[in-house]
Amino acid sequence: MKIRSHRSLAPSLLLLLILPFLLFLPTTTYDPSPNQDFCIAIPNSSIAVNGFPCKPSSSVTSDDFFFPNLSVKLNTSSPFNASATLIDVLSFPALNTLGISVASVVFGRGGLITAHSHPRATEIVFVTGGQVLIGFVATDGKFFSKVVGAGGLFVIPMGLVHFEYNVGQGIATATVAFNSQLPGIVIPAAALFGSTPAVPDAVLREAFGVGEEVVQEIRAKFG
Ligand SMILES: *[C@@H]1O[C@H](CO)[C@@H](O)[C@H](O)[C@H]1NC(C)=O
Ligand SMILES: *[C@@H]1O[C@H](CO)[C@@H](O)[C@H](O)[C@H]1NC(C)=O
Ligand SMILES: *[C@@H]1O[C@H](CO)[C@@H](O)[C@H](O)[C@H]1NC(C)=O
Ligand SMILES: *[C@@H]1O[C@H](CO)[C@@H](O)[C@H](O)[C@H]1NC(C)=O
Repeated sequence: MKIRSHRSLAPSLLLLLILPFLLFLPTTTYDPSPNQDFCIAIPNSSIAVNGFPCKPSSSVTSDDFFFPNLSVKLNTSSPFNASATLIDVLSFPALNTLGISVASVVFGRGGLITAHSHPRATEIVFVTGGQVLIGFVATDGKFFSKVVGAGGLFVIPMGLVHFEYNVGQGIATATVAFNSQLPGIVIPAAALFGSTPAVPDAVLREAFGVGEEVVQEIRAKFG
């Protein structure tokens, strides 16, 4: 009798012990919190850590926290008639350990930021001009989208495939924020058809249910 009650108590005790850790689990899926005020990255350091090592704080100046110009000019020769600049920790070392980054986008008429995902960040898009169709596909295959005008915001949950498409009559512009110092960009088509070394043709033929000539045709665009 004594033994039985002791046994039945064990699972709930265990749950009590691990519950605090379970509650804190979700926060660990984002960039880790800083352990100091700032940590200006040394991007080319030979020391490898999760993020980048810090420049000595004695040599940090106000300029380290300043980035001169986020604006981007439209290059009408760029693929899909849209230009973007992503300011992450690699271009702005002050973002190291701070869990944020930013981008600026300008779309020409019909401009498109093609389907891609950010494995390490949720994205919030602030449309500052024009009309932009923003859409993402959830893991269950449901497509969510909205035409967003100047002043509107649209949020793209972490890791989901999404795009931004100028559906207005003229130029469109947007400023984008990410909750990671290095969101990363995966373009599914380029990842599968343009990797080095190449994903085996047989895998691509099976995955897409197409013949070798189609695989080679798509490869040629991304190789
Ligand atoms: C890293 O870059 C800085 C600035 O460009 C340079 O002075 C330094 O020598 C580089 N260090 C290494 C290890 O490459
Ligand atoms: C920032 O860059 C944009 C586009 O290249 C340019 O029009 C603007 O004048 C620049 N702003 C500053 C303060 O240099
Ligand atoms: C504009 O885009 C084209 C095509 O990607 C590229 O070759 C060219 O260097 C770009 N021009 C500027 C000024 O960035
Ligand atoms: C790209 O955008 C510019 C500016 O809106 C527009 O004049 C041009 O016609 C567009 N190019 C294409 C190929 O649609």
